[in-house]
Amino acid sequence: MHPAAKPLVFLACLLPFAWLFYGAFTDQLGANPAEHLIRATGDWTLRFICIVLAVTPLRVMTKLNALARLRRMLGLFAYFYVVIHLLSYSWFDMGFEVAEIAKDIAKRPFILVGFLGFLLLTPLAATSFNRAIKALGAKRWQTLHKLVYVIAGLGLLHFFWMRSGKNNFGEVFIYAGIIAVLLGWRVWNYLAKKKGKADAKPQSAEVRRPQVAK
Ligand code: HEM
Repeated sequence: MHPAAKPLVFLACLLPFAWLFYGAFTDQLGANPAEHLIRATGDWTLRFICIVLAVTPLRVMTKLNALARLRRMLGLFAYFYVVIHLLSYSWFDMGFEVAEIAKDIAKRPFILVGFLGFLLLTPLAATSFNRAIKALGAKRWQTLHKLVYVIAGLGLLHFFWMRSGKNNFGEVFIYAGIIAVLLGWRVWNYLAKKKGKADAKPQSAEVRRPQVAK
């Protein structure tokens, strides 16, 4: 990978944040800037989850193994945007009243589902460093990071639930379609690998059989 690629991707990932920051300070976020910030950071969290899920299929299809080196950074950006999403909601909607936030999480199911997504993303972000990977062991680390599929589902449900009051599901279905394709690819790839192994087995048995007959 070109040495400039990682810093460039890092800067690209920061662009939505910079754009929102600039918009907030120049009063260009529309009639309801708080709502705009909460929604835009929610959208970017879901987009980064999709981007992270797209890395492996892209890597396998393009054979560009270096892409794997971007995955940790992209995952941490999903966490970065969900933290800003949560902070924007806590500040602009709830005035940082912890008791009110707790009540709202318990009262509104779509907030509860979003909060669960945030809670599950936290151990993934916390264990994305080399030392944590070593401490956990590769196998356990991989199992833990499978939570990203659950998080994607919770993010979608959160979005769907939020939009159900407005009966506006267009974007939700687009994200659901993208996530379904990315997960479908994994299932297909897994089954293809399994079939490949199964096909290889009888062949090796055949190779062995004449030796047994002798
Ligand atoms: C994985 C975690 C999460 C994801 C993927 C996510 C994603 C989203 C998305 C896509 C939207 C809709 C944006 C739009 O309308 O364009 C949204 C809205 C929202 N989310 Fe989240 N979210 C997450 C966690 C949270 C958490 C932890 C909270 C607060 C506890 C939260 C509170 C909200 C609120 C208040 C809205 C706006 C609702 C409205 O405008 O009526 N979300 N979120």
